[in-house]
Amino acid sequence: MVSMLYAVETSNITKHFDEITAVNRVSIQVKPGELFGLLGPNGAGKTTLISMLSTMTEPSDGSARVWGFDVQKQAEIVRQNIGVVFQDTTLDDRLTGRENLDLHGRLYGLDGRTRRKRIEEVLSLVELTDRADALVRTYSGGMMRRLEIARGLMHHPRVLFLDEPTLGLDPQTRIHIWEYIKTLNKEEGVTIMLTTHYMEEADHLCHRIAIIDHGEIVALDAPEALKNMLGGDVITLEIEKPDQLARLCDLYKKNGCANIVSQKKNEIFITVKEGERQIPHILALASNAGISILSVSLRKPTLDDVFLHHTGRAIREREASEMEQVGYKIRARRK
Ligand SMILES: Nc1ncnc2c1ncn2[C@@H]1O[C@H](COP(=O)(O)OP(=O)(O)OP(=O)(O)O)[C@@H](O)[C@H]1O
Ligand SMILES: [Mg+2]
Repeated sequence: MVSMLYAVETSNITKHFDEITAVNRVSIQVKPGELFGLLGPNGAGKTTLISMLSTMTEPSDGSARVWGFDVQKQAEIVRQNIGVVFQDTTLDDRLTGRENLDLHGRLYGLDGRTRRKRIEEVLSLVELTDRADALVRTYSGGMMRRLEIARGLMHHPRVLFLDEPTLGLDPQTRIHIWEYIKTLNKEEGVTIMLTTHYMEEADHLCHRIAIIDHGEIVALDAPEALKNMLGGDVITLEIEKPDQLARLCDLYKKNGCANIVSQKKNEIFITVKEGERQIPHILALASNAGISILSVSLRKPTLDDVFLHHTGRAIREREASEMEQVGYKIRARRK
């Protein structure tokens, strides 16, 4: 027996590719039974981290244990304890769903009877029993993803790594897959570590999220705690004359009602506690200064706001490039 506190534990794990540092001194602890998310934009280092944890890539520095075993010194035992669903599909589309599962079971040395029983179980978990004997070539993207998750579960792994489990799937299929992931975590009790750049996915699924950017963890907590950290609701004000924007920002800062003030064209975003109650005060300040407001809206912060707060950029590249075009600038007040 190995004494174990965490399902996954890394200590300053680092990966360099020539001059690129893909993962930089990451230390995280994932508890047994946890559904843990790595959220970050393209190129953040998510896949590289998962590759090191699943023994596909050697760390350049630091160390990691999965289910108590060292990923470098005990790679073989680590492999027996994990399931992996890669970002790119690795199914054989000339075989049927059932054949793909059977092949995987053989690779893990499961005997015929165990394989047959487990195949039925995992097929039923992802609701593919009816299509099990069709060629994978005839499956939809969502069905392939479900089959890959089922395959990752064949040998009863303790820890399942899912790299971008819903990448490129339509919203409805994505929600379906979320339900399977939740079910496996609950009913099979499997610890799950997933990567995603969809903030809604991390928010909806994960008990805790590590936000990763340029190979480093910039924030780590439960989704609610991450959002609460911003200190309240996001109020957006649209003002009539963009040249009055800077003056209004200063006014709000001086009056202590804004935790974060950022601006974009003729809009200003401020984060305040109890947003509903603050709106009259915020409007009065503007009105007294002779600045006219065209519209006001109030919303709860999203994980994208959290990412923006920590990195100055949005998670989505498209949004990020849009913001560059309009010269979007965030001025975060850091503690
Ligand atoms: N085999 C490799 N050789 C050289 N550079 C690599 C290699 N694999 C990854 N990188 C680089 O390391 C960085 C992190 O890549 P990684 O694939 O881990 O990011 P990611 O967060 O998974 O991104 P995505 O959301 O696009 O999947 C990137 O700059 C990438 O170009
Ligand atoms: Mg990746």
